[in-house]
Amino acid sequence: MTELERLQQAARFIRERLTLAPRIAIVLGSGMSEVLKDLEGAERLAWEQIPHFPRATVAGHAGEWIFGYLEKKPILLSRGRVHYYEGYSMAQIAFPIRLMKLLGIERAILTNAAGGINKDYKVGDFVLIRDHINTIPDNPLRGENLSELGPRFPNLLDAYSARWRAQAKEIARELGLGLHEGVYIATPGPMYETPAEIEAYRRWGADLVGMSTVPEVVAARHCGLEVLAISLVTNLAAGLGSDKLTHEEVLETTKRRENELARLLRELVKRL
Ligand code: HPA
Repeated sequence: MTELERLQQAARFIRERLTLAPRIAIVLGSGMSEVLKDLEGAERLAWEQIPHFPRATVAGHAGEWIFGYLEKKPILLSRGRVHYYEGYSMAQIAFPIRLMKLLGIERAILTNAAGGINKDYKVGDFVLIRDHINTIPDNPLRGENLSELGPRFPNLLDAYSARWRAQAKEIARELGLGLHEGVYIATPGPMYETPAEIEAYRRWGADLVGMSTVPEVVAARHCGLEVLAISLVTNLAAGLGSDKLTHEEVLETTKRRENELARLLRELVKRL
């Protein structure tokens, strides 16, 4: 079976079960899966129900897709995502994004937790990703091109929609919510970076560091989805802040800021 056939089979499975056909998807990052859990008319699909969908690892929380209404608009909400450091292949990481495309999704909002490198950033700040630097040593487009989905050599010139970012900034202003814009550098993880790496990344022009999102953006842009990505600065990157830097710190910050994130996401969906 080809990758396209696997995707088509998964899409058929979902269409046969669910009536909702959203055009917008939201992916919730580390520790954020409680955000927006009160969707109206929610229909849920555990990842393990969906044919060929990546299985959650032992360490990762079981993920699910929720189809429901937010601000009277149908959306697909992914609670959780799969990461390179968990051992997934790039095809597996791209699978949910490509499946979204086959289901009729046109635009995706990706959220994540990230370490702040830019010295203007404080823990708890939100940052729109303006561009990225990729250090993950693989990507979902390597190998035979899925030409039904997109071109062999896609560009990443407006990977993070300038139009949509402008709107997000306007909304944040109205909500009285600070929203920076910055460059995200993706690392393979799972270890946090060394202080020397962070200093090097800062000189390269990175404002934020994290272990996700970029492979998904590559897959999304290949198949023509419009992307908005929002990072929450959950900690200052290695060598810049506290000397603990733990996953607990990351989760603590997301917990503290999830209401504000929900407000922002709600408003973004409302204005589509
Ligand atoms: N580094 C990499 N990934 C992260 C960090 C970090 O400091 N914080 C949250 N995700």
